[in-house]
Amino acid sequence: MATLAELANLRTDLDPDAIDHLQRFLGSWSLMADLSFSDLLLLVPLPSSNAPAAFVVVGQIRPNNCPTRLTHDLVGQTLERGGQEPTQPGRSERWELNSAPFSPTLRIESFPVSFEGRQIATVLRLTGGLQHTVSLYEQLYTDAYSRLARMVKEGAFPFADADVYVEGSPRVGDGVIVVDGAIQLEFASPNAATALHRLGIFSPPEGRYLDELSSDLDVVSRALEVVEPLVAEVGRRSEVAVLIQAIPLVAAGEVTGAIVLVRDVTDVRRLDRLVLSKDTAIREVHHRVKNNLQTISSLLSLQARRVTGHEGRSALLEAERRVRSIALVHEVLSREPNDQVPFDDIITSLVAMAQDSVVTDQAVEIIVNGDLGEVDAEIATPLAVALAELLQNAVEHAFARPDAAVEVDGHWVIRHEELRGKVQIDLANDGSGIEVVITDNGRGLPEDFSIQTTTSLGLSIVRDLLQSQLGGTIDMQRNVTGLGGGTIARFTVPLSQDR
Ligand SMILES: Nc1ncnc2c1ncn2[C@@H]1O[C@H](COP(=O)(O)OP(=O)(O)O)[C@@H](O)[C@H]1O
Ligand SMILES: [Mg+2]
Repeated sequence: MATLAELANLRTDLDPDAIDHLQRFLGSWSLMADLSFSDLLLLVPLPSSNAPAAFVVVGQIRPNNCPTRLTHDLVGQTLERGGQEPTQPGRSERWELNSAPFSPTLRIESFPVSFEGRQIATVLRLTGGLQHTVSLYEQLYTDAYSRLARMVKEGAFPFADADVYVEGSPRVGDGVIVVDGAIQLEFASPNAATALHRLGIFSPPEGRYLDELSSDLDVVSRALEVVEPLVAEVGRRSEVAVLIQAIPLVAAGEVTGAIVLVRDVTDVRRLDRLVLSKDTAIREVHHRVKNNLQTISSLLSLQARRVTGHEGRSALLEAERRVRSIALVHEVLSREPNDQVPFDDIITSLVAMAQDSVVTDQAVEIIVNGDLGEVDAEIATPLAVALAELLQNAVEHAFARPDAAVEVDGHWVIRHEELRGKVQIDLANDGSGIEVVITDNGRGLPEDFSIQTTTSLGLSIVRDLLQSQLGGTIDMQRNVTGLGGGTIARFTVPLSQDR
């Protein structure tokens, strides 16, 4: 569907300021549709080269508080003024839609939209044509509507820098109060009276001055002073919350009163508070988990320092490292409130962690190619732990003895100190699965090694996580291509639901 600006730019002569005025009108006119129990159309005349009284529909709104009479969306359509010129007041005007007339049961009347002294558009009001007895409230609402329509004609509505309807603001159906220029209350709808009750105003408010009733209603006199719509939320302790919006009414430059919309938002605020406290609780839990993981990790390293045997110490340090890689994923997870985790952040930290634990005096270069993008929170932790193990193995075992003999293409070659340790991580995510390849140019896997049968702890964990938990595959081979010598570990993880 085309927007007002698109339609106006493409098909009419309106200048940007006028378009802006109409845009603001569209931000405010739902109030008029509700007060008049009518469908409204906003029309802009087509340039005079076209038919003399042809218009394009640039806006349409339905009332919120009664059934619509226009089931079709007419925005973008052309309308023509039919038959004889202005009919008597109160009589329906004749308009034709793309040369098909509106249903004869519709009553149509129009008024102009003025901006800086010129008429830039026309509003059509469409109501049910059938005569019915008009209730008192209907009459009072329609009067309020007529006062707004006059403001539109005089260029005083919409207001220069404030939309009347903003997200969450009260609507006519929530409760309407009308006051005169001296803030004396002319009438309050039943819903409005209920909202006033909640504020502790029990006496019938009609005829009273708002400032006598309650200081909660101060916003109305302020709105009349600044001649702009104002909103305030008032309440008693945390038990009651009422939203009050005052829209000044102006006639011939004089402030003549205000339409005050009131909405009891007590329940909405209670829910807001609940959500807020849930959010805080979740943040608190994240915080505690993080602290606990940190504590476990430092306990393990403390203990490792006290153990004298090499095997015991490295086992404790290994455990400490595993906890750290879980903590790392947790950290990223708790930062991101949604179900998808940007895995790149995790990779960066895992690489830094592996760099830290390089055992040789020579630095090992770790290169990352590609990325995994966003990964389901559910698989992020096992994925990170598996990756951490494989990376750790590469920096820990591959370059343990840089001068060790390695077999390349059937020949034994002696590696020299100057050989730079390199680990390469290739990442790919095609949406249906993840593939990770970790290659190093180190000493290569031991003779007769098999990832499927090895009983060592690190790789058993990797195998279990990738194959059983994530339903993926893992393969580790001596590297015969690429970097030359060394080890190549390749694993895949499916991303579809059939995991
Ligand atoms: N990238 C690698 N290069 C050389 N050897 C490796 C590599 N990865 C694993 N290995 C060998 O596989 C063994 C098993 O690894 P793992 O299960 O992680 O146990 P750990 O790391 O505790 O020794 C290692 O001890 C090592 O001999
Ligand atoms: Mg290991």
